[in-house]
Amino acid sequence: MEQPKRLIDKLEATSMLTKEEWVALIESRNEGVAAYLFEKARKCQYQYYGNRIYTRGLIEFTNYCKNDCYYCGIRRSNRNAKRYRLAKEQILECCQMGYGLGFRTFVLQGGEDGWFTQEKLEDIVCAIKRGYPDCALTLSIGERSKESYQRLFEAGADRYLLRHETADETHYGILHPPELSANHRKQCLWDLKEIGYQTGTGFMVGSPGQTVEHLAEDLLFIRELTPHMVGIGPFVPHHDTPFAAEVGGTVELTLFLIGLLRVMLPKLLLPATTALGTIDPNGREKGVLAGANVVMPNLSPVSVRKKYELYDNKICTGEEAAECQDCLRRRMENIGYKLVVDRGDYCQ
Ligand code: 5AD
Ligand code: FES
Repeated sequence: MEQPKRLIDKLEATSMLTKEEWVALIESRNEGVAAYLFEKARKCQYQYYGNRIYTRGLIEFTNYCKNDCYYCGIRRSNRNAKRYRLAKEQILECCQMGYGLGFRTFVLQGGEDGWFTQEKLEDIVCAIKRGYPDCALTLSIGERSKESYQRLFEAGADRYLLRHETADETHYGILHPPELSANHRKQCLWDLKEIGYQTGTGFMVGSPGQTVEHLAEDLLFIRELTPHMVGIGPFVPHHDTPFAAEVGGTVELTLFLIGLLRVMLPKLLLPATTALGTIDPNGREKGVLAGANVVMPNLSPVSVRKKYELYDNKICTGEEAAECQDCLRRRMENIGYKLVVDRGDYCQ
């Protein structure tokens, strides 16, 4: 058998490859290898989750951000970004509408916005959990102190998403200003896990300066962390950032990495991301067929959708949540999967 297929078999058997093996596997991939990988990935997906696809209602509640990541459209230096914050009542309205549509997980995502103090955040978390006790609440609000994470957990938050972006410190420095570090971000992830959150990490595929060695380090870091969720999507340039003229990531490599993640950690909650749906009209379907089992439609008011523009041409900025849900349900059914009404917890 050719070497890449042998490596996939080894990954399946041991869930572990060395850095050199990861590099060799990613570098020697081709259509046949990908087909072999996706078949195994779908088997893992089926074993733990059947043909069930979980949905998360994403509420993008602020696009103010104190950070200045070079890739991101809502970085603080982007003077053209139209800034907004949702009031607590608006956030709760999003939950109410989402609950009616069948969502049982809400994801509160935002830039690192100091206007939302610890107290305000805890109050919002409590209000959501009080109103919707049968729902899971995920936070995605960046790097914070362990104490802050602890208090938000005690207020009722169940899960936390914080992509590590790249595990390599030097590459991290290409993507971020000097005040941010890969080490600090990784420490946040260890803290979140220790506190007891269902924890999600992830990275962009094809970000500027990314090499196959960096991807190997990402996979090694994820194996070490063993998170519950991993979100990956292609890097997509944003016109008002220093990376406006950079080349974006590909569908092909993103799918291959989704497949590798599914086989490495078969129980993972793995979203077919909006970024993947943005660079390919059937990106999310392809993501599911490569091993993804989560979709995250937007519940934010349509009036602010366009403003949470992390990258260019983001899809679904004009559609109501109900439209996206119908659209996704149809798309999943077309490929033999089913959107389910369920908190969609990590399979223990
Ligand atoms: N292209 C793709 N993904 C991006 N993100 C931020 N900017 C971009 C971009 N230009 C991703 C980051 C972040 C997540 C919320 O969105 O990985 O963690
Ligand atoms: Fe939003 Fe298809 S998922 S329009």
